[in-house]
Amino acid sequence: MKKLVVLSGAGMSAESGLSTFRDAGGLWDKYPVEQVATPEGYRENPALVTQFYNERRKQLLTVAPNRGHELLAEMEKEFDVTIVTQNVDNLHERAGSNRIIHLHGELTKVCSSYAPYDLRYVKELKPDEYEVKLGDLAGDGSQLRPFIVWFGEAVPQIETAVTFVEQADVFVIIGTSMNVYPAAGLLNYVPKQAAVYLIDPHEVQVNSYRHIEVIRKGASEGVVELLSRLKQKA
Ligand code: APR
Repeated sequence: MKKLVVLSGAGMSAESGLSTFRDAGGLWDKYPVEQVATPEGYRENPALVTQFYNERRKQLLTVAPNRGHELLAEMEKEFDVTIVTQNVDNLHERAGSNRIIHLHGELTKVCSSYAPYDLRYVKELKPDEYEVKLGDLAGDGSQLRPFIVWFGEAVPQIETAVTFVEQADVFVIIGTSMNVYPAAGLLNYVPKQAAVYLIDPHEVQVNSYRHIEVIRKGASEGVVELLSRLKQKA
């Protein structure tokens, strides 16, 4: 089976009703990124940050995977698929994809605020636990914090992602502005002979000279188009 690696970003979930970050009206227009997505912001105002992620967690209950997520899951019949996602939602999981690497953490999980990456204290929340409160403690006695990789923090999953990207026969970028590193740098690890596709309704500035087949469509239609292009090549 050919190995297909997807790098997805916020645009993957846009058609499910989740806002992107950098489009007009995106999340970073509404909430200052330094307040809600940095360790400093959390130290300054943990109540605000906790509330921000509580709201985003509850929003997950009101949205569903879109056709793009579903088709990527169905592609596992024909490809060995790895999803590397920058998204913290659980829509790839809910669509049925089996190998998902979350580079920027997961909304449905919480962790220790002393040692965010200590997996002993990472806990999956059930929907009735989505409202985290100040005073809720991790196993090490520290305040529970969102299991989210904030700006300025290490991205522990990047090495695992690289090992899959280095093996890719097909690499597909979907719905990311390719602004955030190290995620955007994964493209540099794609083998020379692999085919690279980019699905996005808008133009994306990619920092690479390699040939990229651009599919200028939203995620759902774009994955349909990807499937037909891959069939033509098979
Ligand atoms: N289908 C596909 N792509 C879309 C759609 C759609 N329907 N709608 C918008 N897009 C595209 C936009 O054109 C843009 O290129 O999705 C991309 C979203 O870019 P960003 O908002 O920058 O999101 P992303 O690249 O995922 O951000 C990376 O930055 O803020 C951090 O941690 C956060 O994981 C996030 C990271």
